[in-house]
Amino acid sequence: MSILFSEHAKTFHLYNQEISYIMTVLPNGHMGQLYFGKRVHHREDFSYLYETAQRPMSSCVYEDDDILSDGYSLSLEHVKQEYGVYGTTDFRRPAVEILQPNGSRICDFKYKRHEIMGGKPGLAGLPATYTEDGGEAETLRLILEDSLTGVILELLYTIFVRGGILARSAKITNEGKEALHLTTAMSLCMDLPDYDYEWLQFSGAWARERHLKVRKLEQGIQAVDSRRGHSSHEHNPFIVLKRPSADEFQGEVIGFSLIYSGNFLAQAEVDTHDTTRVLLGIHPMGFDWKLERGESFQTPEAVMVYSQQGLNGMSQTFHRLYQKRLARGYWRDRERPILNNNWEATYFDFTEDRLVEIAEKAKECGVELFVLDDGWFGERSSDHAGLGDWAANTERLPRGITGLAERIEELGMKFGLWFEPEMVNEDSDLYRAHPDWILSTPERSASQGRNQYVLDFSRKEVVDCIYEMMAKILSEAKVSYIKWDMNRSITECYSKVLPPDRQGEVFHRYILGVYDLYERLNTAFPRLLFESCASGGGRFDPGILYYAPQGWASDDSDAIERLRIQYGTSFCYPISSIGSHVSVTPNHQVFRNTPLSTRANVAYFGTFGYELDLNKLTEEEQKIVKEQIVFMKKYRKLLQFGTFYRLLSPFEGNLTCWMVVSEDQKEAVIGWYRTLSHSNLPFARVRLHGLNPDFCYEEQNTLETHFGDELMNIGLITSDGMSGQVEGCTGEYGDFDSRLYILKALPQNERKD
Ligand code: GLA
Repeated sequence: MSILFSEHAKTFHLYNQEISYIMTVLPNGHMGQLYFGKRVHHREDFSYLYETAQRPMSSCVYEDDDILSDGYSLSLEHVKQEYGVYGTTDFRRPAVEILQPNGSRICDFKYKRHEIMGGKPGLAGLPATYTEDGGEAETLRLILEDSLTGVILELLYTIFVRGGILARSAKITNEGKEALHLTTAMSLCMDLPDYDYEWLQFSGAWARERHLKVRKLEQGIQAVDSRRGHSSHEHNPFIVLKRPSADEFQGEVIGFSLIYSGNFLAQAEVDTHDTTRVLLGIHPMGFDWKLERGESFQTPEAVMVYSQQGLNGMSQTFHRLYQKRLARGYWRDRERPILNNNWEATYFDFTEDRLVEIAEKAKECGVELFVLDDGWFGERSSDHAGLGDWAANTERLPRGITGLAERIEELGMKFGLWFEPEMVNEDSDLYRAHPDWILSTPERSASQGRNQYVLDFSRKEVVDCIYEMMAKILSEAKVSYIKWDMNRSITECYSKVLPPDRQGEVFHRYILGVYDLYERLNTAFPRLLFESCASGGGRFDPGILYYAPQGWASDDSDAIERLRIQYGTSFCYPISSIGSHVSVTPNHQVFRNTPLSTRANVAYFGTFGYELDLNKLTEEEQKIVKEQIVFMKKYRKLLQFGTFYRLLSPFEGNLTCWMVVSEDQKEAVIGWYRTLSHSNLPFARVRLHGLNPDFCYEEQNTLETHFGDELMNIGLITSDGMSGQVEGCTGEYGDFDSRLYILKALPQNERKD
C-alpha cells in the first residue's frame, strides 16, 4: 500500500494490492479524477488520462488565459473531478456550495498543498473507520483554497493495506473575513468515465426494510435519500454500481456507503456524454451550516469498496471493515449473547413476577440474556405516556430495575433494558417540566408520531439530562445490554435556542447529540452491549454501528419476510450486526405459520434470540428450543464472524440459500430455505463457495463426504423429488421448509475418498 505523488506531473496514486485511485491537479488548479479501479502499475506521469473537450455550442470556457491543454480550452463540464462545484462551467450537481455575503455561491477551490500520513485520523464527534496501528492504512490530506473567500477545503483519502477500500471525507474551514453559509457539503464525489452500470439500492418501509432493487443507470439523475432525520426504513445510505455482467461471484462492483445516521443523499448523475457522477453525503435539502470566521465543518465519512469478485466480494470487504474497524469496544469480537426479549410475549402487559416466569423458562432452555422491553418506566402502560421519565414504575417493578435485575442475575442470566432516549410523550413529567425541549416550529402545531415528540438533541442540556437519568439506572442496577430505540421520524425540525440563520444546522446537530450520548454511555459503561433499533430497522446504518455493534433489523419477525430483509441487509452489514429472533406463530406481523425449525434456521444468521414466552410452547417445542440454543452456542462464532456468501436470492425465486465459512475453511454452515412447496420437483444442486477444493468435508447430519472442489463445482445435492406426496408427511417438507447443512473438513487420516 502506498500513496505516491509525482511532483512534475502533479498526479497522486493511491494503491494497494487490489485497487488504484489516481488524481491530478488540473491546469486550473482544481483536483481532477483520473481512475478508480483494479490496481495498475505505477507510473510517474498519469496525465495522459486527463481528457477534455471544448465541444461545439454547449461548452463554456473556464476563464483563465493560460489554461490551454492540447489546444483545447478548459470546460469543467467535461472534466472528471474530485469535488465538483457548480457554476464555473460545470453544470452537474455539486459536492460543495457556499453562500457568500454578496449572495454568490460560486467557489473556485485550487490545490495548495498536501500531506501524507500513516494510519487514519479520527473525525471529531463523528463515527468513522479507524486503524489500530499506523501500518494498517495511509491517509492523504489534500488542501485546497478558494482565495476570494479564504475558505479552505481539506479532502481526506484513506487507503487500507487490505481490501479494495477507500475512505473519504471533507472538511471546510472559513479562514476568510466574513461569515459564510455552507449549503452543500458532500462526503464523496466520484466521477466515473462511463455509465455501463446497474444501480442497486436497498429500500422498503417499516417491517420490510432493505429490499434489493436493481435498475440500469440512465442519463439523468437517480437517487435515494432520507429527509426524516434518521437514515430510515425507506432507503439505506448504501448503493452499489455493478457492471451488468457482474454477479454475486465475479465481475466489477463498487459499493458506496455513508457512515452517518441522519438525512442523506446517495445519487448518480449520468450526463449526456455518458460519464457518471456519484455523490454521497448529508442531504443538501434544508442543510445550511453557518461558518463564522475560523469555524470548520467536518462531513461524515463515506467508504467506497471496489471488488472484482462480484457482490459477495464487495460485501465481504464491507463486513470485515465494519466488523473490525468500525465497530469498537468490548463486544466487537465477542460472540453475542442469546437473548429472550419480552416485547412480543407481553407487550405492555406484565408484572415483575410474570417477567421472572418468562426468564426462568428462558434460563432453563439455555438463554443467556433476558431483555425487558418497553413499558417499565414512568406511567408507561401504553404508548401514550411516560417517554422521557427514565425511572422504573414501582407499581410494576416494586424494587425498581435494581430489584428485577438482581432476580434475573440470580437465575444465572444477564439483564438487558429498553430505552428510547430521544423521545418524550406529552403525558410525561419531563414534558410538563420542559415543554420547550422538543423540536417544533414556533407558533405552529407540532406533529406527533406514535404519540410522541422528538427531544431537541442539538441542545447539550437536553442530552445531559437524559444521560443523567440513564447513567443513574445503569450505575445502580446490573444492566448488561441496552436496546436503544427511536420510533418516529423528525418533523418541524427547529431548535428554540438557535438563531434563525442556524436553523439549517438542526438535523445534523441532532445526530451529533445522539452520537454524543452514545459515546458518553460507551465510555462510562464500556462492557455494556448496545443494540440499536428504530421501529425495527429505521436507523440501521454504519454510523450507529460505531456505537452499537448490533441492530434490530426489522420489526417483522416472520422467518419468510426476514429472508429478504436479512439478505438485503447482508450486502453491506456483517452478520454479527443483524438482530434476528425466533417469534411465535401465527406471526404477529404477517400472521403466517412457519415451522419452528425454519424460524431458527433464519435467525441463526444473525445475533439470535427469542421474542416470545417460552412457557407457552409445548414440551416438545421447548425441547427443540433447547437443541437450537445448544446448536447456536456451538456454531455462533462461525455464524457471526465467518465469511458470508449469498448463494440463491429470495428476490429472484422460491429458494434462498446462503452460507458461512470459517477462516481456516474447515467448517461451513449452509442455510437453505424454500418459500412454497411444490410436488414432483426437479433435481437440484447448489454450488457452494469459499471452501478449500482439497479438503474432504463431512456433512454432519448425513455423514456423507465430498471434496471442496466437488461441492463448489458440481454442487451440494438438495433434491427432494417427491416432496409433498410422502405418506405421513408432517409438514416438515411443506411450505416454508428449510435445512441446514453443516460441513466439517476431515483430518487427512480420516478421509473417505
Ligand atoms: C419498536 C421496536 C420494537 C419494540 C417497540 C416497543 O417498535 O422496534 O422492537 O421495542 O418499539 O415499543
